[in-house]
Amino acid sequence: MSLLFIAPDRDLSSWESAIQDIDPNIEIDIWPAIKDKERVQFAVCWNHPQHLLDGFPNLKAVSSLGAGADHLLSDESLPESVDICRVVSPSLVQQMKEYILAAVLNIQRNFVQYIRQNDQRKWQPHNHPSPQELQVGVMGLGELGKPTAKQLAQLGYEVSGWSRSAKEIEGVTTFAKTEELHPFLNNTHILICLLPLTEETKGILNLDIFKQIDERGWIINAARGEHLVDEDLIYALDSNILQGAWLDVFSEEPLPDKHAFWNRNNVIITPHVASITKPDEVADQIVENYKRALSGLELNHKVNRELGY
Ligand code: NAP
Ligand code: GLV
Repeated sequence: MSLLFIAPDRDLSSWESAIQDIDPNIEIDIWPAIKDKERVQFAVCWNHPQHLLDGFPNLKAVSSLGAGADHLLSDESLPESVDICRVVSPSLVQQMKEYILAAVLNIQRNFVQYIRQNDQRKWQPHNHPSPQELQVGVMGLGELGKPTAKQLAQLGYEVSGWSRSAKEIEGVTTFAKTEELHPFLNNTHILICLLPLTEETKGILNLDIFKQIDERGWIINAARGEHLVDEDLIYALDSNILQGAWLDVFSEEPLPDKHAFWNRNNVIITPHVASITKPDEVADQIVENYKRALSGLELNHKVNRELGY
């Protein structure tokens, strides 16, 4: 039986060795070099070519190589009978906490402006708010959003969080469901998106939402590019509805040369690096789920196909 990796834009050699360090008996295929399609029972995918996954008659389960599984769920060729799981790891959580904290601190302390001023040899101090004066709203309180919200609250920020089901998180004012989206957004200075990409959340970062957060607020999107309506962001920035945007993810990656987000003082771009799956930190859970799939056991970190995450 074989475990297949499909990740066209990744060097998978370290994945192969990380899996074999745990269990040297696992047979590994790396797409497109597949020895025998009938032997493939488990696949690990990242941005796989769509319409590929129905070509393996004995495929039992597919794992995302990362935290998000939207790239798997959007592939209509994935048979209903195939279970989907994803990766959840302390390292992904830690990296996301660092990324969001770095962005929030840079915004709070005006470093974005100071770095731009460096280029102009401009000596111009700006006032900055204390953490207690900054209302930070976290959309999505799952594996990544909840610890991120908690960390910000521990550092003294005024934190609110929004999720599908109601939550209780120490130091965080929580809201749930569409009905509570408006009160959640009220007074928010920095809006952070850590939602999964689903039918319900696609395009959620739009003009209507931008108008509901604090005037001259910021958004930070470290979830998926399709959460954001690009034209609405440009309009909101140009109309002073928003002060700035900190973006790690984009509808098209790499962000095309001609995209309107480049070369703007008020848009910070990072190349989808907020939280990166490291092979040696998650190989054990991939092996565990591979063995579970082969034995017909319930997968860990299984994705709910109906909810879309
Ligand atoms: P998760 O554990 O599945 O958590 C998702 C959270 O979103 C949950 O709190 C969920 O609510 C909430 N949610 C889902 N649909 C909602 C809706 N319609 N309305 C309100 N709340 C909703 O996901 P995660 O592991 O934290 O990861 C989140 C996303 O981050 C991933 O899907 C991925 O796209 C992105 N990501 C990006 C990077 C990067 O490097 N930029 C790295 C890793 C992950 P409930 O708690 O009620 O279920
Ligand atoms: C990265 O974007 C992930 O989903 O892990």
